[in-house]
Amino acid sequence: MDREAEMERLEKSIQACKRCALWQTRTNPVIGEGSLSAGILFVGEAPGYYEDVKGRPFVGKAGKVLDELLESVGLQRNEVYIANVLKCRPPGNRNPTTEEIQACTPHLEAQLEIIQPEIIATLGNFSLAYLFDKFGLMKDKISKIHGKVFTVSTIAGIKIKKIIPMYHPAVATYNPRMKEVLREDFKVLCSQK
Ligand code: URA
Repeated sequence: MDREAEMERLEKSIQACKRCALWQTRTNPVIGEGSLSAGILFVGEAPGYYEDVKGRPFVGKAGKVLDELLESVGLQRNEVYIANVLKCRPPGNRNPTTEEIQACTPHLEAQLEIIQPEIIATLGNFSLAYLFDKFGLMKDKISKIHGKVFTVSTIAGIKIKKIIPMYHPAVATYNPRMKEVLREDFKVLCSQK
């Protein structure tokens, strides 16, 4: 099956998903968007208010920062893929629970299997924790490992080569100096393409 058809099938199954209770409170699932043959795939945390309303990832304040960062290295949204650990918004933007992450991440894994990106950039702590665990990497403080390139070996059906941890773009909305740190990490990301 081709990537478009596989993603369409996955989208339908996410729309109908009731593996956790979040389908009851969300407006729209936020599946992800971008190129299905992207070399770089970003994984954020979960949809917030605007993402839930629009059904698209990173379209609020943090999304504006992400767009600026992409632009700073000459990348466009349609050249990368943007997904989240959770597809449905936790009420009030609370943190995802362990049970929700367990229930939802098979969808993310299916996206990785379809897109097969070479590089995953983790945005924020939940994405870092989940993907480092999945690929058998030792987690450390984000202040120590952001912008570093971690080489990973293929696991069942997913041929990712590198994971680059990054701060969540939202940090730059309350600490503008963090934008510079993120910009430097985006340069590293771009140098790995
Ligand atoms: N924050 C995230 O982690 N993901 C989004 O899609 C929006 C905000």
